[in-house]
Amino acid sequence: MPQKPDPPAIPLEDPASPVAAHTVDGRPYSPGLEGVIAAETELGLVDGANGRLMYRGYRIGDLVAHGTFASVANLLWTGTWDPEARLTAGPVPRAVLSALCALPRTTKPMDALRTAVSVWGTTQNLDWPPTEVQARALTEFSPSALAAFVRLRDDHLPIDPDPELDLASSFLYQLKGVRPDPVTARALDAYFIVGAEHGLNASTFTARVITSTKSDIASAVVGAIGALKGPLHGGAPSEVVEQIHTVGSPERAEEWVRAALARGERLMGFGHRVYRAYDPRAAALRKVVEAMPTKPDWLELAIKVEDVALKVLEEKYPDRPLKTNVEFYAAAVLQGVGLTPDLFPATFALARHAGWTAHVLEQAATNRLIRPDARFIGVEERDLPS
Ligand code: ACO
Repeated sequence: MPQKPDPPAIPLEDPASPVAAHTVDGRPYSPGLEGVIAAETELGLVDGANGRLMYRGYRIGDLVAHGTFASVANLLWTGTWDPEARLTAGPVPRAVLSALCALPRTTKPMDALRTAVSVWGTTQNLDWPPTEVQARALTEFSPSALAAFVRLRDDHLPIDPDPELDLASSFLYQLKGVRPDPVTARALDAYFIVGAEHGLNASTFTARVITSTKSDIASAVVGAIGALKGPLHGGAPSEVVEQIHTVGSPERAEEWVRAALARGERLMGFGHRVYRAYDPRAAALRKVVEAMPTKPDWLELAIKVEDVALKVLEEKYPDRPLKTNVEFYAAAVLQGVGLTPDLFPATFALARHAGWTAHVLEQAATNRLIRPDARFIGVEERDLPS
């Protein structure tokens, strides 16, 4: 077997640069595209160093305090702030219900949602270019589809959307058959706001790549759900719940945190690739959880674990700020509104529909096919064996 040649290793001017360890024809190569600017956007600004997140310039904390998911989605799609904007849950076409019925009971909710969006796309006339009407219809469809899947899986009939309810409330109603109280509905709506958009993350990039080929909006969101499903992206709120349950009581928190770190384990809900300061989404959600009348019974314990974890992480990594991330309080909100941990990732996907579809519209408006190059490290040109 011919040996693969070593790839050429040409250090950049700053060898410590995270952007590139090598160049190809003088062009930088960045594994994982880290540090590469691959799109222009007016949607989300993620300022990790200073712990700031803004949608079209508006601070996430203000949007959670004064907005609704409908007004935020409308802002992302149109650029206009309309506090009266409304989103109501959409119908589930018969073809989607048939597909959901045919799925094995063991199907993960994320897989069911991905399938539902794919089938939904076949029932729509999704011409190019994608439109705000399509973005809205898809964002309104998916909560109904996810609720229908859960009902069917649990041997219950799906429940039609209630047009009087907003999207988050109708989702809870279609899941459980009971209209949620306003504070519970508000808590899930707030979670939807913080999950709506977060820059050019892997799933959003996937949606933009698919759109750049002039494919349709449903295909872009199917791809995005597939990317979000991976454990490196879809987040860790269900692991947070498990971890807090393992700790058991506030008195055990410090001992448990120290032992977990000594075993080389990661504390779920802490650290972030981009944020070096306290995740502003965690701060906004903590306020929401604290205002809930029926707080998850482990909230007090969670707050104790957070305090201890921040102290011990700072001792262990004095030069690398590892702060609370969004997943820590997302877990509390999702538990508090009565969702089971198996639904957490798909519920996150419902929120992110707003950002994905806004990026689809933005990509389409100034479209250029996204087609990077690869550094070829295989065997060079040669003859077939005779
Ligand atoms: N607990 C303990 N140690 C940690 C944690 C943590 N949560 N996060 C990072 N570290 C340590 C690492 O072990 C590593 O230490 P080492 O240098 O001694 O090996 C150091 O900090 C740097 O770690 P990286 O993996 O390089 O940090 P990165 O910024 O790439 O990781 C990540 C970000 C993946 C989120 C990480 O912090 C993590 O695994 N956190 C726990 C899981 C979690 O909460 N995920 C949800 C993220 S938010 C979201 O997805 C929306």
